[in-house]
Amino acid sequence: MHIHRLTSRFTWIISKYYFTLEYLRDVPHGASLFTNKKNMDTTAFYKLSYGLFVVTAHEGDKDNGCITNTVMQVTTSPNRVSVTVNKNNYTCGMIERTGLFNVSVLSEKASFDSFKHWGFQSGKDVNKAVGIEFYRLENGVIYVIDGVNAVICAKVVQKIDLGTHMMFIADVTDAFPTDDTPSATYAYYHKNIKPAPQQTKKRGWICTVCGYIYEGESLPEDYTCPLCKHPASDFKPVE
Ligand SMILES: Cc1cc2nc3c(=O)[nH]c(=O)nc-3n(C[C@H](O)[C@H](O)[C@H](O)COP(=O)(O)O)c2cc1C
Repeated sequence: MHIHRLTSRFTWIISKYYFTLEYLRDVPHGASLFTNKKNMDTTAFYKLSYGLFVVTAHEGDKDNGCITNTVMQVTTSPNRVSVTVNKNNYTCGMIERTGLFNVSVLSEKASFDSFKHWGFQSGKDVNKAVGIEFYRLENGVIYVIDGVNAVICAKVVQKIDLGTHMMFIADVTDAFPTDDTPSATYAYYHKNIKPAPQQTKKRGWICTVCGYIYEGESLPEDYTCPLCKHPASDFKPVE
């Protein structure tokens, strides 16, 4: 009886050992079972099916907004959405102070100019309501018309401080579609909206989100793209 138990334990250990070896051998795409942060390929995040949005806010007589890829519906009853906004974005402070924002869902018709307008410049420096077609809703906040297929109005019920970003959880106070064009995903943006990188003699690092080039041998770990505010992990060497 005792011997039988020992034998089956031994068989179990051996089969586990072989299973692990087989598993290690079969891990595809050069990935290792024991992943290593340094070798991480962040283009994996392009495969997440993020949407793209202009998140707008209104404070006093100022209208503003920024591009985000972080809006999602988190509960249906009550109907709530979340959005995560970089604390350096002017829009973040406006939402914190007023508790209100609108989401204009960007469609595949959205132009790169629209991304540049809302995503590559700050309301700290410019008036983003100038030169843009928009409507203002009952909550006093504008939404964008061009290249947009739906609008969601939201009232903040909770804030979560994530360090660099603030996550807002908000009640949906209104929502309506405006167009039948499919929504632009982040993958669609990278493939079809963002211009292909120009051939350049510059040496350095290119931002994979907006194409900005940092000239220099090594990119500081805490570097942030001056155009789209994305971190060093979104840069790759210029080829
Ligand atoms: C494709 C794209 C996606 C972006 N995603 C986000 C995001 O999810 N969160 C965020 O805070 N900023 C994001 N940004 C950066 C802001 O849109 C950008 O910093 C903007 O200029 C801030 O404007 P503001 O200072 O007027 O608020 C994104 C920019 C682009 C081009």
